[in-house]
Amino acid sequence: RPVLAVASECAPLVKTGGLADVAGALPAALAPQGWAIRTLVPGYPSVMAALPDARVLADMPDLLGLPGRVLGARVGALDILILDVPSLYDRDGTPYLDVEGRDWPDNDVRFAALCLAAARIARDGIDGWRPELLHLHDWQAGLVPVYLEQLGVACPSVLTIHNIAFHGLTGADRMARLNLSPARFTVAGFEYFGKVSALKAGLVGASALNTVSPTYAQELTTDAYGMGLDGVIRMRAADMSGILNGIDTDTWDPTCDPAIKPFRRPAGKAANTRALRQEFDLADMDGPLAVVVSRLSDQKGLDLLLAALPAYLAEGGQLALLGSGDTALERDWRAMAAQYPEQVGVQIGYDEALSHRMYAGADAVLVPSRFEPCGLTQMYALRYGAIPVVARTGGLADTVIDANAAALTAGVATGILHQSHSVAALSHALQRLCMLHADTDTFRRVQKNAMKYPVGWDASAPLYAALYARLADEGKTNS
Ligand code: ADP
Ligand code: GLC
Repeated sequence: RPVLAVASECAPLVKTGGLADVAGALPAALAPQGWAIRTLVPGYPSVMAALPDARVLADMPDLLGLPGRVLGARVGALDILILDVPSLYDRDGTPYLDVEGRDWPDNDVRFAALCLAAARIARDGIDGWRPELLHLHDWQAGLVPVYLEQLGVACPSVLTIHNIAFHGLTGADRMARLNLSPARFTVAGFEYFGKVSALKAGLVGASALNTVSPTYAQELTTDAYGMGLDGVIRMRAADMSGILNGIDTDTWDPTCDPAIKPFRRPAGKAANTRALRQEFDLADMDGPLAVVVSRLSDQKGLDLLLAALPAYLAEGGQLALLGSGDTALERDWRAMAAQYPEQVGVQIGYDEALSHRMYAGADAVLVPSRFEPCGLTQMYALRYGAIPVVARTGGLADTVIDANAAALTAGVATGILHQSHSVAALSHALQRLCMLHADTDTFRRVQKNAMKYPVGWDASAPLYAALYARLADEGKTNS
């Protein structure tokens, strides 16, 4: 059954974070359940370059006054629809930021055009194909329900919240430019403190909502995590669920990953660990080698890690970090590496292959996030036999089993959990990591548990399929 997914990024074509991994993995996960997903993405340069054989499926001569068209192409299991509007997407920089790291000033138009194109595809179909359902990802797809309503289209939709921190706000004076009817500029609509919120438009307008872990679904109803939208989430509690992300276990397979020295058992990691120490110019030491692969943003709690690090280093631990983002954090991490060259290695940048080598070589992966809707790096860690040391929040709490006495006795421990937002709790967790690592037999057992813990889509794909079926069937009765 046909579904149109709308996403601002989709691996392997364009990725800045986990949203891309999930948008890229869902189609293959849901195909066996009978759902055929086509994914609409903007025609950024990387997307156009990766798909030179894409063919034109439809013209969109007037998308918010701009000429565009929709192309179609396949990449692996992905059936991609590209919204090609050169004046909006053919630029250097990231999907959201210019080369200087500032938001594109016309991000509102860039993603409104994506939403309008999706609504038109739902209305008119494309290439003889028409979706029964729309799957919207984050604020960039939030305006779809508004345009559906304005066009009089009755297609059901589900909005997945990957991160409620980003609201897609723009000025009320932009409504005309975005072709939004002021009728919905109300507290019950997309108005948010005098501005237009694309995310809120999706939250109030989609037929159903979900987020990417059960714990985050609960957290989102609280004012500590709802980022000003918890009231809206509580209002829609009956339509809201938490469905845990999986990872693509083919791309992330330590037994045949081309980026690493493949291994089947924890002991097989040793060659990767040696290579990783060399790559980051770290000394040969007996303590644990932990890694961080992350966007450098306040969400990820890496400032807390800077504070907790000296004690961990004094215990003989080491750390390799790969990340980019916030310039102050980049500077502070570089300074940390300069101060402890034998124990701390830092690469500022974005490097997919290096990230694989890091998960493969690491004894532990640290994720001290303040909040984490799901988190994928702890799941790569599990699969690659690196012990996740994670804050007890969101999807981190739902995917890692703390190595406490009970879990060790039951033989199910996979990692270490600590209270979020706390340097003291993080320090204590790092101390526990050092102790666990020194107890080689126990450490190996935890690594083995981690490697066999199921992190694929087997559990969650049927949940999405059931949600899709319910919405599409209801959509049929309504129209
Ligand atoms: P978020 O989406 O909040 O950034 P996730 O843990 O869900 O967090 O997903 C992050 C994804 O981005 C993972 O696939 C991770 O490996 C990848 N990633 C993050 N930073 C980098 C980087 N600097 N280089 C390579 N991959 C990175
Ligand atoms: C977001 C979240 C992350 C989640 C990802 C994919 O970027 O920050 O926790 O794993 O989306 O759903």
